[in-house]
Amino acid sequence: MVRTHTLHAPLLLLLCSVAASHQSLALNVRSYPSSTTDSKTPVALSLARNVNATGSRNVLKLDQARAQAFRARARGPNQIPSNAAAFNDEATGRVVTYTVNVAVGNPPTSYNLLIDTGSSNTWVGAASLDLFHPSCQPTKDIVAVSYGSGSFIGLEKLCEVTLAEGLTIPEQSVGVAAISKGFNGVDGILGIGPVDLTQGTLVLESEKEVPTVTDYAQKLGLLTEYIVGISFEPLNQDNETNGELTFGGVNHSKYNGTLNYAPLTKVSPASKYVGIDQKITYGEGQPVMPSGSGILDTGTTLILLATDAFDKYKNYTGAQLDNDTGLLRITPEQYANLKSLQFTIGGVSYELTQNAQIWPRTLNAAMGGDPEGIYLIVNDLGQISGSGLDFIDGMGFLERFYMVYDVGNSRAGLATTPFTYATTN
Ligand SMILES: *[C@@H]1O[C@H](CO)[C@@H](O)[C@H](O)[C@H]1NC(C)=O
Ligand SMILES: *[C@@H]1O[C@H](CO)[C@@H](O)[C@H](O)[C@H]1NC(C)=O
Ligand SMILES: *[C@@H]1O[C@H](CO)[C@@H](O)[C@H](O)[C@H]1NC(C)=O
Ligand SMILES: *[C@@H]1O[C@H](CO)[C@@H](O)[C@H](O)[C@H]1NC(C)=O
Ligand SMILES: *[C@@H]1O[C@H](CO)[C@@H](O)[C@H](O)[C@H]1NC(C)=O
Ligand SMILES: *[C@@H]1O[C@H](CO)[C@@H](O)[C@H](O)[C@H]1NC(C)=O
Repeated sequence: MVRTHTLHAPLLLLLCSVAASHQSLALNVRSYPSSTTDSKTPVALSLARNVNATGSRNVLKLDQARAQAFRARARGPNQIPSNAAAFNDEATGRVVTYTVNVAVGNPPTSYNLLIDTGSSNTWVGAASLDLFHPSCQPTKDIVAVSYGSGSFIGLEKLCEVTLAEGLTIPEQSVGVAAISKGFNGVDGILGIGPVDLTQGTLVLESEKEVPTVTDYAQKLGLLTEYIVGISFEPLNQDNETNGELTFGGVNHSKYNGTLNYAPLTKVSPASKYVGIDQKITYGEGQPVMPSGSGILDTGTTLILLATDAFDKYKNYTGAQLDNDTGLLRITPEQYANLKSLQFTIGGVSYELTQNAQIWPRTLNAAMGGDPEGIYLIVNDLGQISGSGLDFIDGMGFLERFYMVYDVGNSRAGLATTPFTYATTN
C-alpha cells in the first residue's frame, strides 16, 4: 500500500482485513486448475445492445471523458483523477451499451458485463454487493480500476468463469466489487484489452499483471487461436440481442468481405490499447486526417477525431454544432450531399457511408435530440492531432465492420459485413 491510490485509506484498511480473513479460509480450498473443455472450437457469446434514454449531451461527454482517461491511463496506472470529466455531473448513464452474460462461480451466478477492449480487468458486483462469493478462492489482494466514467474497488478472487458453453476457465482472476460508481444497469466489465493495462490494478502486488480471460484461456490451451472476433450490428431498436464475441476464432458468417489485418500501432499512447494507424479522407479524397494513431474501442459510442481533423470534417459537411446534444447536426439537404469517409488502415480502405455517419434517427430522442433531426456520429476528441491518440473508432464504426483482435500476433483485423452499406439509420 505504498501507492497513493485514488482510494480512501479507511476503506483500503477494511478491505485488507477482509482479504486477510479470507486468506486463512482459502488455504485448504482447492487444488490447481484443470481444463474442463475437451474440444477446441471457437466459442460464440451473444451480446445484448441496450439503449438508455439519458438526455442531453451525455453521449459526447462520456466518450470524451473516456478519451481523456485513455490518455491519463497511458501515463501510469493511477493517473486517472477521480474527478475526471464524467464524475460529479449528470453524465453517469451510458447511452448505448454492449453487454454479455457471463457465469461466475460454481454453482454459477450470472452477470451482465460490459464488453470492453479499452480495459483489461474483469470484475463483477456493480449491481449487487456480492463480496463473499463462496465458491471463489480469494487471493489476498485488492483490485481497483478507474475509468473515464466510473471506478471500482474490490477483492481479487479466483473464480470459475464460464464465458459460454464449451469455454469454462477455472480460477480466472475476477474483481469482486466492494464499491463502484458509474455502472448503473450492469454488473461490471469483461475486459478484453491488452493485459498490460492490468499493471497497477492490484493494490498489494502492483507490479503484477492480471491475466485477461483471453490470456488465461489461451494459457490453459482452451483456444484454437489466440484471437477474439467482435461483431456489432447497426440495428436501431432498443435492447435486443445484437452482436457476438467469438473467443478463439472468427465467425466467417458475420462478414462477407476479405478479412484484412493491420499491425497494432507502435505509437503511444494508442499502443497501450487496441491501437492502429489510420488515414481518413472525405468524398473525393479530401484530407481529414493525413495520418494518425488511435484505437478501435468497443466502449466508445461515437467516432472521435482530433480537433483539427474534426474541424475539417465539420467544414466539408457544413454541419453545425447542436447545443442540445453536443453532436453535429445537418439539414436534409446537407444529408443528401454527405459523402463517404474513407478510413485507410493497413493499406486497405474502409468506406463509412453517408448513412453510417448519422446517429440512428429512431434513437434521436434517447440522446436528447430532435426526433426529426439528423445528427452525425463523428465528433471532437478534444485534443489536436499528434498526441499519439488521434482518433477513437467506437461503436459507430464497429457496427459497420467486423473486428478481430489478434492478441497472439499483435494485429487487428477488419472486414466489411452485410451491414457496411446498410441504410438502417
Ligand atoms: C457464427 O454466426 C452464426 C450466425 O450469426 C451463428 O449462428 C453461430 O453460432 C456463430 N458461430 C460461432 C462459432 O461464432
Ligand atoms: C432498455 O434498457 C435500458 C437499460 O437497461 C432500460 O432503461 C430501458 O427501459 C430499456 N428499454 C426498453 C424499450 O426495454
Ligand atoms: C440511464 O441514464 C440515467 C441518466 O443519466 C441514469 O441515472 C440511469 O442510471 C441510467 N440507467 C442505466 C440502466 O444505465
Ligand atoms: C473551415 O472553414 C472556415 C470558413 O470557411 C475557415 O475559416 C476554416 O479555416 C476552415 N477550417 C478548416 C479546419 O478547414
Ligand atoms: C448554447 O448553450 C450555451 C450554454 O448553455 C449558451 O450560452 C449558448 O447561447 C447556446 N447557444 C445557442 C446557439 O443556442
Ligand atoms: C455483403 O452483403 C451486402 C448486403 O447483403 C452486400 O451489399 C455486399 O455487396 C456484400 N459484400 C460482399 C463483398 O460480398
